[in-house]
Amino acid sequence: MKILLLGPPGGGKGTQAKHLIDRLNIPQISTGDMLREHVNNKTNLGLRAKEYMSAGALVPDKVILGMMKERLADDDCNNGYILDGFPRTIPQAEGLNSLLEELNQGIDIIIVIEVKDDNIVERMSGRRVHPASGRIYHVKYNPPKNQGKDDPTGEELIVREDDKESTVRKRLEIYHKETSPLIQYYKLSTKICHIDGEKDINEVSKSIDQILNLN
Ligand code: AP5
Repeated sequence: MKILLLGPPGGGKGTQAKHLIDRLNIPQISTGDMLREHVNNKTNLGLRAKEYMSAGALVPDKVILGMMKERLADDDCNNGYILDGFPRTIPQAEGLNSLLEELNQGIDIIIVIEVKDDNIVERMSGRRVHPASGRIYHVKYNPPKNQGKDDPTGEELIVREDDKESTVRKRLEIYHKETSPLIQYYKLSTKICHIDGEKDINEVSKSIDQILNLN
């Protein structure tokens, strides 16, 4: 199954993608995680991407499409995947269409996770992540067993550089302008389900399971 998770920054796409990996045994493809890996490894792509990401801006479409073309051709994508954070603009969606046509594939379902802007800002201030695995916590809504430490490894959790309020507001502005028009773009071609992302994490997971008939 090929699933596209759409929603605002901090809407819970990564959290729900991790849940779906366990249920469906298919990979999560997060352009944000891929870019952060490039930044950490100081690759040419990472050095270019860093300035956009720190400012809360989008990395240019051409860079993202080049990266995704390679990723979607990997063997672990043969049985499906969860797209998290891609596509994010109409040109990226058009690029994805071309890539999928070449591979003779299509997106089965788009799940839109809806959360109001003010709740996003509060959520992001409490997010903590384990950089090596991408595991996501929240100090209040999904705390680790030991404060500041990743559950399985005990390693330090970090605050993402782009989670400060002014950057989050900028990311939200870009989401409304560049990314939410994708809902209209896909309306006629792809099944789209909207879910309330303001319920607690387990309730949101249950709603997604219902949509995907995983109960
Ligand atoms: P990316 O990493 O993709 O960030 P994002 O889309 O802004 O989404 P986030 O990862 O911030 O949030 P999420 O929806 O995954 O929420 P999460 O589950 O963590 O992109 C980062 C940057 O990279 C971009 O700004 C851009 O510069 C660049 N980039 C990436 N892809 C790109 C592309 N395609 N094109 C161009 N540039 C690109 O949850 C957030 C917090 O809330 C966590 O603490 C979590 O525990 C908590 N939480 C989750 N669900 C709930 C709930 N139901 N109730 C309470 N708390 C909850």
